Amino acid sequence: MPLLSVLAALALAQAPVNEAPPDPAQGQRLFESQCALCHGQDGRGGRGPSLARPRLKHVPDEAALRSVIRNGIEGGEMPGAWQLSPHEVASVAAYVRSLGTVRAEALPGDPGRGAKVYQARGCGSCHILRGEGTGFGPDLTEVGARRSAAYLRQSLVNPAAAFPEDFLYVEAVTSDGRKIRGIRVNEDSFTIQIKDSNRMFHSLRKDQLRELHKLFHESPMPGYQALASGELDDLVAYLASLRGEP
Ligand code: HEC
Ligand code: HEC
Repeated sequence: MPLLSVLAALALAQAPVNEAPPDPAQGQRLFESQCALCHGQDGRGGRGPSLARPRLKHVPDEAALRSVIRNGIEGGEMPGAWQLSPHEVASVAAYVRSLGTVRAEALPGDPGRGAKVYQARGCGSCHILRGEGTGFGPDLTEVGARRSAAYLRQSLVNPAAAFPEDFLYVEAVTSDGRKIRGIRVNEDSFTIQIKDSNRMFHSLRKDQLRELHKLFHESPMPGYQALASGELDDLVAYLASLRGEP
């Protein structure tokens, strides 16, 4: 066959492949052979960062994700996978997306009723949700994409059972005997910044403290184990539905 017809035949054979929807299973196989070395077998990080997060620093949208995979990141250790076809890039991208998203589960509660429980219980006095509320505890705008329903239920009935990464509750005692309890906002060798439950910031010098305790087994969030079980189901269903979309 003359070269040109071979190329034409190849192009024809490729066209439907390029238009096929991304295949996350193929994406996973490619990921395990080409990305796992740095990002870990399950994508939770190694030499490269964990990709099992809903928001990635270099990835504002799908086009950027595909570009990072295909072209790498300039000035960093992330190489481009230029050998992948556009369809393979799309499949790897779909797999990377699935890593950062907790799959939606069928849940017994009703999210609409759960939203009312959220209002009635004043959760917004400590949490921000889509820009509204007070940021004492973590932002809940996309908590449903980050956390399983079981974890969400546990956070409500027993808040001290598990904490978000980087979360630390502390108690400082100043040299004049004043006690300050709150969430650690920042800390270095010489100072610590604490936000107390009245949303007041305290910047303290460690050499002026008598004591500094890390309260690993306490949470400032009250437990909601006394909610009627229907209300609890509804609230969990509501939180699970918060996936960052408008
Ligand atoms: C040689 C190691 C290495 C390999 C192989 C590698 N990466 Fe990376 N990757 C990195 C490093 C390091 C970074 C962080 C770069 C930076 O922040 O400058 C990164 C960043 C990324 C990011 C952006 C993360 C963010 O927070 O924005 C994505 C997405 C990504 N890699 C996906 C992949 C995929 C998919 C593959 C396989 C096709 C792959 N990487 C192969 C090392 C690697
Ligand atoms: C007094 C402030 C306060 C109130 C009121 C409060 N929370 Fe929290 N919440 C926190 C703090 C602080 C944390 C982080 C520590 C922890 O996980 O226990 C937290 C953690 C959480 C988490 C886990 C988030 C994550 O990413 O791990 C969820 C879910 C949550 N709260 C939901 C709620 C809901 C729903 C309500 C209302 C029923 C509520 N909270 C009321 C302060 C509060």
